[in-house]
Amino acid sequence: MALGNSRQIISNQSDIHEKLLTVLEKHRRSVFRRHYSEHTLRAFDTVVEWRREHGSARAIILDTGCGVGESTAFLARQNPDALVVGVDQSGARLGSEFASQDNYCLVRADLVDFWRLAIEAAWQLEKHWFLYPNPWPKAKHLQRRWHGHPVFPRLLDLGYCIELRTNWKIYADEFCYALNTLVGKKRWGVELWQPSQFITPFERKYANSGHELWRVISQQN
Ligand SMILES: C[S@@+](CC[C@H](N)C(=O)[O-])C[C@H]1O[C@@H](n2cnc3c(N)ncnc32)[C@H](O)[C@@H]1O
Repeated sequence: MALGNSRQIISNQSDIHEKLLTVLEKHRRSVFRRHYSEHTLRAFDTVVEWRREHGSARAIILDTGCGVGESTAFLARQNPDALVVGVDQSGARLGSEFASQDNYCLVRADLVDFWRLAIEAAWQLEKHWFLYPNPWPKAKHLQRRWHGHPVFPRLLDLGYCIELRTNWKIYADEFCYALNTLVGKKRWGVELWQPSQFITPFERKYANSGHELWRVISQQN
C-alpha cells in the first residue's frame, strides 16, 4: 500500500463537471428517502452507546471513509478531549464490525445511512474529515462522487468544519464549489497540500508516487 507505484488519475474531464450545478440544485430541492440498512442502524446504535459510555458531551470528530483507520487513530491522538468515529463500509479494511480504543472507534457502516442517522440525532461535528475518497474520475460517474450524491446538501447539517484531501485537483475544485454554492458564499478554498506526516495509507501511497495532493478547507471559523 505504501509503495510509490500509484498511477496518476486519468479523466475525460478537464475542469469542474458541466452538470455539477444542475445536479446540486436538484439534490438540494429533493429529499433522499432510501431505507436505512439494518446493518447501519445497528452500527449507529453501537456508536451512540459507545459515545454514552465515553461522554456524549465530548466533541465529536467524524473520519468519513476511514479505510484501515490509521487517520482515525491519528486524529484521536491529536484531539484527546474529543471522541473520534471512523466509518467505512469495508470489512476487509476495518477487520471487524466495531472496535474501539481510547477515544476513538471504528465501525463498519454505509456512510450514506450513517450520515442521515447522525443528522437525525442532531450531531454537531467538531470536524468532518474526507480523506482521499474514491475519485470516480470518469465524467459519467459524477453522481458517485460525494458532492454528486443526493445526500450531499444535507451534510452541512452536521457542521461546516470540513476538510477534504485528494490527489485529483478536479475533485477538490468540485467539492469546494459544491460547498460554497450550497452556503451561498466563498467559505471554503482549495490549496496544494504538502504533508509533513502521512496520516493515511492513501496519502502515503500518492505522495510516494509523486502525485500532487490537494485539500479543501474552511477559510473561516
Ligand atoms: C480510497 S479509500 C481511502 C481510505 C482512507 N481514507 C485513506 O486515505 O487511506 C476510500 C474509502 O471509502 C470507503 N467508502 C466508499 N464509499 C463508502 C460508503 N458508502 N460507506 C462507507 N465507506 C465508503 C471505501 O470502503 C474505502 O475504504
